[in-house]
Amino acid sequence: MKNQDVIARIAEISKANPGNLMARHFNADYFTSLNDADQQQLLKICASGTQNPDSSMGAYAMNPNDYDRFAPQLDPMIRDFHGINADIPIKQEHDWDTSRNICDLGAIDARLKDVSMRVRVARNASTFPLPGAMSKQQRVEFEILASSAFDELIKNPEYGGQYLSITPGSPNEISADEYASRVGAHQMFKDMSADPYLNVAGISGDWPYGRGMYVSKDEDFLVWVGEEDHLRIMAMQSGGNLNAMFARLATGLEILGQLLPPFATSPTYGNVTSCPTNLGAGMRASLHMKLPNLTSGGTDLSQLKQEAKNLGLAVRGAGGEHSDAGSDGLVDISPSARLGVTEMQIMQRLYDGAAALWALEIER
Ligand code: ARG
Repeated sequence: MKNQDVIARIAEISKANPGNLMARHFNADYFTSLNDADQQQLLKICASGTQNPDSSMGAYAMNPNDYDRFAPQLDPMIRDFHGINADIPIKQEHDWDTSRNICDLGAIDARLKDVSMRVRVARNASTFPLPGAMSKQQRVEFEILASSAFDELIKNPEYGGQYLSITPGSPNEISADEYASRVGAHQMFKDMSADPYLNVAGISGDWPYGRGMYVSKDEDFLVWVGEEDHLRIMAMQSGGNLNAMFARLATGLEILGQLLPPFATSPTYGNVTSCPTNLGAGMRASLHMKLPNLTSGGTDLSQLKQEAKNLGLAVRGAGGEHSDAGSDGLVDISPSARLGVTEMQIMQRLYDGAAALWALEIER
């Protein structure tokens, strides 16, 4: 397609799909002001939303410095998604100190002291392109680099565990059956080549090369390699003590940070991620709650979604992005904001939001 045609196409998408933030904020004047190479690069960043009009964001960065380099296009989209007005400077601060917040869900209600809790951060190495622009060789090289860091974790009695690769021929390669059972256990990520958004962006390219997962001996600390970001580092526990889980993540992240190349950050947007929705703290903290009354027995998420939105939370089914609630009303709730909020603020929002939703659930 010629550039003029692409511009016209994006304008059409913005009319038909007002939720597509890339199309909504596409800045044709800025685009035309760029040289050829930059135009091509920006079109690559916007390709996922151009070929998938139903996108909610519609763009993925290809290189760690894309957010700063193409700010005139990307900044308005980022602000729109994260709810930051144009006149307010974006500032990403970090806070991992759990000592000031009491985040024990059992204190809300004894029925909440044994829920499934997860927290993950997205991180990318500054020394590689982001996954959408990696060559097959770079994907495999990055996996080898990461697995040497996991060797150190495996030697550490607090972690132990193993690295499981799905790269054909890798010394850590697992069988198709084991992969399927780890996906079924909600540990390993699904086949990305089935995702139209990631495909267009090139993020699922060369599947399954360079992909794998580290899992600790207790299976409560996991690291995905080669999914939407170079690394998704996560802690998961069943219980009610959010702080304990958070501390597990913080310590593991700290150790990995010392073993890997520096993580990609932006002076404005904090941690750099492929998707603009994850910028900033790059952290998603969630818990699975049974809310049968608020979801009409798991059949209807719409009312719960509205209540949750007022609390700054997003709701999805317990089966992951785009899934529905279970018949027992089991849902996944997580604070939506990632940018301009600290890690501890995200945890506090999760706790306060869970308490508020629980109060609504039991008064029915
Ligand atoms: N690219 C998709 C869209 O714009 C997904 C965005 C958010 N999800 C994600 N996994 N990054 O709708």
